[in-house]
Amino acid sequence: MKLATIGAISLLTLTSFAAVAGDINRAKFNKDGSVNQPKNWRAWVFVGSPLTPNALNGGMAAFPEFHNVYVEPSAFEAYSKTGKWPDGTQFAKELTKVRTGSNCNKDNGACAEVSGMGYFNGEFSGLELAVKDSKRFSDEPGNWAYFTFGHKAPPYNKTAEAMPTEACNGCHEKNAGEDFVFNQFYPVLKSAKSSR
Ligand code: HEC
Repeated sequence: MKLATIGAISLLTLTSFAAVAGDINRAKFNKDGSVNQPKNWRAWVFVGSPLTPNALNGGMAAFPEFHNVYVEPSAFEAYSKTGKWPDGTQFAKELTKVRTGSNCNKDNGACAEVSGMGYFNGEFSGLELAVKDSKRFSDEPGNWAYFTFGHKAPPYNKTAEAMPTEACNGCHEKNAGEDFVFNQFYPVLKSAKSSR
């Protein structure tokens, strides 16, 4: 085989390898180590929306909102193929307040809407991000780091510093169903895994 051909073949192999590895869209970090707010996370794959309303938590829920969880699509695609979260995976969790109004019950917070009595999404009220990165976060358990862009109405903060391990990672490590991700609450992920 001519050298040029060998070269072309290795280049081809390298390119396809890069295509696989390069498929993951990674979070953008700044020189000071902070991460930028993700773009278009509402167009990522929506995996679930746990709700812990104040009405069911003695008025004292830590997060009384809907927790709308999205995963970055290229990471989801890799997970669907391999059953593992690749390096670079990003999850966003956006909070929305429970909708209130004159049609809502004062005791349990449920509202009477056309589909029935229940809890409905109100206004956006916070944005968090989880990033798996074995190089950047080699010291974090599972290589996951956690960020918050503000527990408040938009506009959210443009950048965020990684939270201390015990503030976020610890609970995920102990309680999440798989690789620090609470997939026990996300039927979309369970289905992606079982249909491999
Ligand atoms: C006491 C336990 C606990 C702590 C502490 C915690 N989380 Fe979570 N987190 C959860 C649970 C439970 C879920 C599943 C969805 C839900 O109920 O909100 C979750 C889900 C998430 C998700 C969606 C992806 C996933 O892993 O399921 C992100 C992003 C996230 N949390 C960020 C954070 C950040 C940022 C912090 C620290 C500021 C934090 N979490 C602290 C329990 C915790």
